[in-house]
Formats: sequence, C-alpha cells, structure tokens
Amino acid sequence: MFGIHIQCSTMKIYFIPLFLITFLWLTSCVSVPRKQLSRMIPPSIHTAVEQAYAMAESLRTDTTRLPRSIDNRGNLMTSDSRWWCSGFFPGSLWYLYELTGQDSLRVLAESFTRRVEREKFTTNNHDVGFMIYCSFGNGYRLTRNATYPEVMLTAARSLSTRYNPKIGLIRSWDSHKQRWQYPVIVDNMMNLELLMWATRYSRDSSFYKIAVSHADKTAENHYRPDNSCYHVVSYDPKTGKPEKKETGQGYADESSWARGQAWGLYGYTMMFRETGLERYLNQAKAIADFLIHHPNLPEDKIPYWDFDAPDISDAKRDASAAAIMASALIELSGFVDKKLRNEYLSVAEQQLITLSSPAYRAEIGTNANFLLKHSVGNMPSKSEVDVPLTYADYYYLEALARYKRFVLEQ
Ligand code: GLY
Repeated sequence: MFGIHIQCSTMKIYFIPLFLITFLWLTSCVSVPRKQLSRMIPPSIHTAVEQAYAMAESLRTDTTRLPRSIDNRGNLMTSDSRWWCSGFFPGSLWYLYELTGQDSLRVLAESFTRRVEREKFTTNNHDVGFMIYCSFGNGYRLTRNATYPEVMLTAARSLSTRYNPKIGLIRSWDSHKQRWQYPVIVDNMMNLELLMWATRYSRDSSFYKIAVSHADKTAENHYRPDNSCYHVVSYDPKTGKPEKKETGQGYADESSWARGQAWGLYGYTMMFRETGLERYLNQAKAIADFLIHHPNLPEDKIPYWDFDAPDISDAKRDASAAAIMASALIELSGFVDKKLRNEYLSVAEQQLITLSSPAYRAEIGTNANFLLKHSVGNMPSKSEVDVPLTYADYYYLEALARYKRFVLEQ
C-alpha cells in the first residue's frame, strides 16, 4: 500500500518511495545507539548504587572525609571538605536518589551534603561553586529542603567577594602568585551556576551582573579563533587587561586541554539556559563544533586528556572530560535545530555507551567503590593519572539523569 505502481513495458515494479527508505534508514541509525544505551542504563545505575552504598559505608565513621580518587596502590584516597571536589559525592548520591527514588539514598545524600556545609564561607578560591552547588544545589532541586537556600546564598556571597569590577572577572586562585597576578581558569565558568541560582532565588541582580560579566570576559579572552580555549588567563589588575595566556593542567599553553574544553561547553550551555542570551548559545555551539569535529577525538568519543598530547594515539583518555561533555551536549541538544540535536545526541550517546562498557565502568566491589575508571586529574604534575575521579562519576550520573529526562522520557 505504500508503493508507487509503475507500468513498465516488460514488468510491473513496485517502488517503495525514496522518502520511506530514507526515513527507515534514518530512524534505524538514530535508534540503534539509543536502544543500546537504554539497555545499558539500568545495569549502570544498579552498579552505581551498589558502589555508592559501599563508598558511603567506608566513610561512615569519619564524618570529615569525602571521596577523591585512588592512591598508587589502588586504595581509596579521601579529602576533607576543603578540596575542590568535596561536593561531588554528595551530588552523585542526589542523582542516584533522583534516578531510583530510593529513600535511603536521600538520607545518605543529606548526610554527606552536611559534610560540605562549612565551605559556604570559602573565599580563598572559586571552587565554592562546585562544592556547594553540586551538593546543596541538587538537594534543593529535589527536596526543597528549607535550610539549604541559606547555605547556597552564603556561598554565592563568598564567591562574589572574588569578583574585581575593574577586571570584570572572578579570580580563580590565590596561589601561584609569582607566576600570575590575577589567574582566571576556564573551569570557573562552572561556578556561575551558583550565582544564577542565587539571582533567581534572591532577586538580587548583583549576582547576575557578576556572572554575565565573567562569562563575557571569558568568551573574549580565553577563546581562540578556532573556538578552543586557554586554561589560564591572568590579568593585570592595574589595567584590567590580560597579561598571560597559559596552562596549568594542559600539555602546553597553546594546546587544548580536554577537560577545560568540556568545562567551557558546559558553562556556556548553562549560561544560555539561565539567561536566554543568544551569544552564550552561539558560544556553546561553536565549542561543540570544535570538539565534535576535532580530528583527534577518537571513534568512541572519549577524549585524550589533551587534544594536542604529543603521543596522541597512546595518550591517556580522560573519562571525566567525556562525562562533562556528554552531560553538556544532552542539555545543548534541547536548544538547537533537529540536525544539530541529532548530531549532539549521537556523540553524547556514544560517550555514554563507551563509559557504560566494561572498558570504563567498574565491576561492583572494585575500583575502590568509584564507578568510572580512566580519568586524568593533572598530567603535568603527574597527579591522578588514569584513575577514578569523583567528578567523573558525578557528571556521568548527571548525564544519565539528563538523558532519561530529556530524551527517553520525551
Ligand atoms: N577544576 C579543576 C580541574 O578540572 O581539574
């Protein structure tokens, strides 16, 4: 009944119209990874839950500790709440609560979130946004706990103290004073989400102004013509202008450190969501274009730790960069036309399929109770190389939660 009946001199040919063949071909292309990933999500969540319970149990008695990575012997390495990653395990517990509805996970999430509360007073680095938003922010989103906004607003005020109006940016680090007068790292884009939440909650526009100024100056001074970015831009406080463009964690000043590119992609996608300003959407799309079409992005879409690493095909992969990128691309896919949406989702799907495979996802009871293997923290310092990292797990779970919400349940 779908065919076109053509009368030929020697035979009758039933053509299935070209559009139907194209349609079937397209839907099968799109749906194969989607089906594959849909099948992988439940066992991934099951593994994540088991690992999280075991991790929480191992840290039950010393309530000052939070997971960080593993040491040279493969044993769990923890930190206190001061380390920039302290909010990620509480945040992962919140995502697991969201993904499963298990009340015991909410109770654990609340308890680990409390471990980070004192960081609301952090004013000596920019990471207060990561620490408080990933923990309290997710908790507030899911439970509307009435005690959380005070913590988050205090943290937003602490972060705002690091803003210099003459420069128009939040200062990232107070360290490295000999090398950089006023260092701003691209990672800092991530901390703006706390300020955007504070804007909405308090209606105090000063948070908004800081966030928008920071995002604009970062776009102006961190980004290169090919839409890759520097890791560190340092400013001269006397002139307010950039004095140096370098790297801290990448291979070279002019290289493209993978996680930095992913932070930028995520940061501008989030800023478009929060402000509706078209320039942030364009920035995010330009970054996505750079990443997705980079000749050094492997087939499985897990980036090397730096896109310009010297021994590229043998270079270590960074699962954390892949997880951040996947989460950002899923969100960005909701803001663009169908063609780009499919392009972004197919990369994110491939990333999540790879991360959910045995090559990256740990077996229950292994990997010191982290979920993902093979991330790189700081290659130049030879620190945290090819290890699990608490933020790789966090952004992977966030990506799964977003994928369920924005794609599978649509
Ligand atoms: N914000 C620090 C890092 O990405 O390693």
